Amino acid sequence: MGSEIYLDNSATTRQYDEVTEFISDTAANKYGNPSSLHSKGIEAEKLIKNAREGIARTMDAEPSEIYFTSGGTESNNLAIIGYLEANPRKGKHIITVKTEHPSVLEVFRHLETKGFRVDYLDVDETGLIHLEQLKQLISSETALISVMLVNNETGTIQRIDDISGVRNEMNPQTVIHADAVQAYGKTVLQPAKAGIGLMSVSSHKIHGPKGIGALYVSKRIKIKPLFYGGGQEALLRSGTENVPGIAGFGLAAEIAHKKMKENYRLAASLKQLFIDELAVSGISHRVNSRSDALPHILNISFENVKSEVLLHHLEQRGIFVSTGSACSSHKNNKSHVLTAMGIPQGLVDGSVRFSFSGYNTKEQIRLTVEALKDIIPMIDISRNRKTRRKQ
Ligand SMILES: Cc1ncc(COP(=O)(O)O)c(C=O)c1O
Repeated sequence: MGSEIYLDNSATTRQYDEVTEFISDTAANKYGNPSSLHSKGIEAEKLIKNAREGIARTMDAEPSEIYFTSGGTESNNLAIIGYLEANPRKGKHIITVKTEHPSVLEVFRHLETKGFRVDYLDVDETGLIHLEQLKQLISSETALISVMLVNNETGTIQRIDDISGVRNEMNPQTVIHADAVQAYGKTVLQPAKAGIGLMSVSSHKIHGPKGIGALYVSKRIKIKPLFYGGGQEALLRSGTENVPGIAGFGLAAEIAHKKMKENYRLAASLKQLFIDELAVSGISHRVNSRSDALPHILNISFENVKSEVLLHHLEQRGIFVSTGSACSSHKNNKSHVLTAMGIPQGLVDGSVRFSFSGYNTKEQIRLTVEALKDIIPMIDISRNRKTRRKQ
């Protein structure tokens, strides 16, 4: 680790050491199948029960409203497809936002081929939806609205209370699914109070293990499973439970919530320092994240720069960042989020996401801006173009 500067915490986080220890102890010693009737099974079942209760507490929910899944992607699929399958009479119209994660957008595209009428909401230049547009689209036919609470590329926080308010006014039967993968553990979430019926969270974004997540399903809502089998997770998610993963997720959620305020303050100070240092650096840039965005995510476009080139130069200095959406970054597709915000293509091409966690320091931010001051003049396309013309 040493001099590494890891600023890609929205892609994934370094696991807490306590979580790593807990997982290996669970895997080594508490290896029973939770469905077994003997004490080894009961011991494993107890671990799951504790994690479920802990996670329920973090969102003011009841333990029976928490279902473990393999992560955010599965939770999003299960919420949307599971709800629509279980409630065919609620209508054939569904709404989402153009800036959603692919694990929601691709499900909606799939549902278009299954006879659903789909609307993709526009966003303004800061990534917020227009409530008026939502109001116009919701009808008695609208079964579901899926909206992410915090955008994974920009940190934009959608105004969920206003969204629920519009839903209540236009069709109280419409269920809201919230992708809270980037919000969970970083800000207070109370789905029942916010009028959210289904909410997805993921463990590896909060220093927990990868491949585990959860779906909150309000007790008032019925959904169907995506696959069938032994009937684990109250019939919603068959398959032997990932006990070490669930236990590790439970512990990570507990620690993340204990440290939430402290980490929020730290992220806010790192974001501000980054912005201030860049402002006096002489580097041409545009801050794409709102000032009231979740401070853990800072999206910046550098003029006349290709973000992949910048990423690799930073990497050579031990600084790790993302271009556009990290979760699918090896596909090398342009950021659909910044494009939907109407950011000019040149600035989309030069956009980098810096994302912070409790492991980051102010010194790391200063070193990163110093590195940017060195690298950007070297890779500036306009300068290189002029030099080539002279030769
Ligand atoms: C907003 C958002 N939703 C969903 C996901 C998918 O979560 P997972 O990696 O746990 O499948 C991610 C990240 O990958 C994300 O950032």
